[in-house]
This record gives sequence, structure tokens and C-alpha cells, in this order.
Amino acid sequence: MSTLSIHGYGDDLTVNDCRLGDLSPAEHEKIDLEKGGRNYNPLENVVISHVKDSSTLICRKPSENGVAAYIEEELIDGLCCYSAVNQGQLNQTIVDAVVKHLTEEKLPTVPRSIRHKYMSAFLLATTGITEMDRVVPKVAGVEAAELMFKLSRRWGYKIKGIPENEAIIVAAKGNFHGRTVTAVSMSDDPDAREGFGPFVPGIELVAFNDIDALTSLFEEKGEKIAAYLVEPIQGEAGVIVPNDDYWTQVRALCDQHNILLALDEVQTGFGRTGANFAHQLFDVKPDLMGCGKAAGGGILPVSFVAGTDEVIGVLTPGSEGSTFGGYPLGAVVGVYAIKVLIEEKLAENAKIRGAQLMSHFENMKNEFPDKIKEVRGLGLLTAFEMYDDPKLDGHQISLELLKNGVYAKETHHSTVRIAPALTIETWQIDNIAEAIYNVVKSI
Ligand SMILES: Cc1ncc(COP(=O)(O)O)c(C=O)c1O
Repeated sequence: MSTLSIHGYGDDLTVNDCRLGDLSPAEHEKIDLEKGGRNYNPLENVVISHVKDSSTLICRKPSENGVAAYIEEELIDGLCCYSAVNQGQLNQTIVDAVVKHLTEEKLPTVPRSIRHKYMSAFLLATTGITEMDRVVPKVAGVEAAELMFKLSRRWGYKIKGIPENEAIIVAAKGNFHGRTVTAVSMSDDPDAREGFGPFVPGIELVAFNDIDALTSLFEEKGEKIAAYLVEPIQGEAGVIVPNDDYWTQVRALCDQHNILLALDEVQTGFGRTGANFAHQLFDVKPDLMGCGKAAGGGILPVSFVAGTDEVIGVLTPGSEGSTFGGYPLGAVVGVYAIKVLIEEKLAENAKIRGAQLMSHFENMKNEFPDKIKEVRGLGLLTAFEMYDDPKLDGHQISLELLKNGVYAKETHHSTVRIAPALTIETWQIDNIAEAIYNVVKSI
């Protein structure tokens, strides 16, 4: 039997004889490659140690010359964990709530088979902020998409009257809903699918932002279609913002064919796009919406599906559940994540700071029309796309940005997404924009 010794905190955290503070970035990478699943390709030669403030990450590595214990570098966080940290790192209101909950209120974990009092607060807060009738708590973002899929199918059979096992869920080309078999069954990304078949049947893909394609599909197969499950703005696809009238047309089409509109707001929700939820910008209301990421305030994984009485009403005991979905600590974090969204006016700040960032992007596009193909965004979900040219490589840009003190990451080859915390300040946006300008200029 192997012996394992674990002690210390932070840099002193030591597993057997391996103390974290002694590891160089190359040694961290070696452990990752030898012991991990190799399912990510993190930026080279940088390891995050801790945060300095709501938008500043600190990388720390052992000093090679021994003069100082560590070399520290600051990075402005231009990604905020793919919109999981909209409230800013270590948001004090949420941290205080967690500490108080664990040390004074003392109810970390009980199962859903017995009621706990914090669930009531969670349901009141989540139905309140989403303006929906009912909410089902989950944990990861992908589970929200998965549950919307299940709910749509069951609603299709029980309410719409689709013949058993014939329901169709429509998804958009270029979508990203996560990594479960259902989510990759909806995906058209070969890397996400390769080797994972057979896939879930009953899925049809339609071009995003193409109302004619959706109309034809609904006309052809509408009787068997239960839902159009879709992101309001496609995030992983590179921040694809549809035409202004797309969502009102989609809503009307769904109503006409008695098809649910199930919006995946995992990335676009919680203030990211300049409204609490992106669909509000387009003046439509979905039948179902999935939230995740910032629903956990950057502290815990918290997700949920909100929906109408009619749709969520198809659930019955035993048909759905999750050990940690809505457990007491998660429920408290979820409630405080919403409190911060409202009280710190995150959506408003996203709108203002987003406009500031987009105006920097527009200037950059005007100055480098041969490099920048398009700039896109709503609120603080933004991206710039470069021309398809080996020299204009998004990964290389991300590496160069690191050297300029900014953490951002490419999506696909030539697009770089910038989506910082919604608490970000004016000067930090200017610094991000300046770093991007300098890097784009230099390539
Ligand atoms: C729109 C959307 N849905 C679902 C997910 C999956 O969330 P998670 O990684 O928490 O499972 C993501 C993650 O990026 C997402 O952007």
C-alpha cells in the first residue's frame, strides 16, 4: 500500500516530498502531463498562484538566482474563467457569506431528500432574478443544458403530444453546451466528438442567426420538434452576436409551431452582456433558461434551470436530481451571487466598460485594417477576429499578451475573446486595450 503524506497550505502545501512553492512552471507542466488527462492545452510557462484583487492574477515561481524566494508577476484577468467570475475574484460579500455560513450558521451539506432552509432563499432569489416560475438547481453548466434537453423531451411527449421516442431537439451549428455525451451530441466540433459516439439521437442542427433555415426546419419537422436549445450569443464560437431582430423572429416562430425556446445563458447570463440575462437585450422571454458559471459567484460551481410552470411541471420525484444541486452551501453562494449582481450593478458596469473596450477595439481595427477582420461584442463579452493568416495566430497573441501583463485566450485560430470581471475598472480596461494594441502592432 502506498503511503501518502499531505500537510501545509499555499506554497507550503506538500504531498509526500513535493512542496508546491519549490516547483517551477516546467515542473508543474511535467506533473500535469504525466498525471493529468491531457485534455487541456494551457498557456506555456505560467502558473497562477493566487489573486491580488478582483481582476488581478498573480503568477509566482521560485527565483532562480536565490536572491528572492519568488518571482511574482501580475496579470490582468481578461477572461475571468470564461465568465464564471463576473462578480470579481474573492468578492467580499460572497466570501463573507461563505465564512459566516461555515463558521456560524454551520450547515454545509445535506441531501435533497430532507428539506434545508437555504433552499427557500435560493428558489426565491433565482426565480426572482430570472422572472421565471420555477427553478431546478444543478452544479455544472453542462448539467443545466442537459436538464433543459431532458425537460424539453418530456414536455414534448406529455404536453405537446409528440409520439414516444420521436422528439427532436434543434441546436445551432457552432454551439457549445459543455462536454457530456448529450452536449457533444449537439456539437459539430470534430475535436469534441471524435471517438465518443454513438451519439444521442433526435438532434437537428441549424445555422445560427439564419431565420430562413430555422423556418424551413420548423415547417418540415415542427410537429416533432420539442425545443430550440441555443445560446443567445454564441460564446465559444467566438462571440457571435445575432441580428437585432433574430430573437423576436425565433420567439414568434417557436410560438407558431408550439416549440420551446430553451436558452443556454451559462456564459451570457449574470450581467455579462449588459443585462442580467442576454435575452432581455432582445426583448424576448424563453420557456427555459440554463444558468451556471457566475451563478456560483466565482467561488463554487452552481447552476440551475429556470422555466415556466408548464415545462418544469413535467418533472416528478425520481425523474431528476443531484447530490450537490442546491445543497446548503451552494444555495447560500447562489443567493449571494445574485445579491452582488444586483447591488453592485454588474450589468450596468458591463455595459459601460464594454462600450469603452469596444471603442478601443474599433480604433484598433481602423488602425490595422489588414490585420483585424472584425470586432464583436455586447457588454463585456467581446472578441476581435483577425484575418486567416498563419502570422495572425490567436495562440501566439495570447502568449504575447501574457508578456504584456494580460491573460486572455484565443477561441479557434484567429479570434481572441476578452471577457473580464464585471467589476473591472476604467484604467484596467485601458491597460488591457493598450496591451492588445501593442501586441497586434508588433505581429
Ligand atoms: C454556453 C455554455 N453552456 C454550457 C457550458 C458548460 O459549462 P461547464 O463547463 O460549467 O459544464 C459552457 C462553458 O463554457 C458554456 O459556455
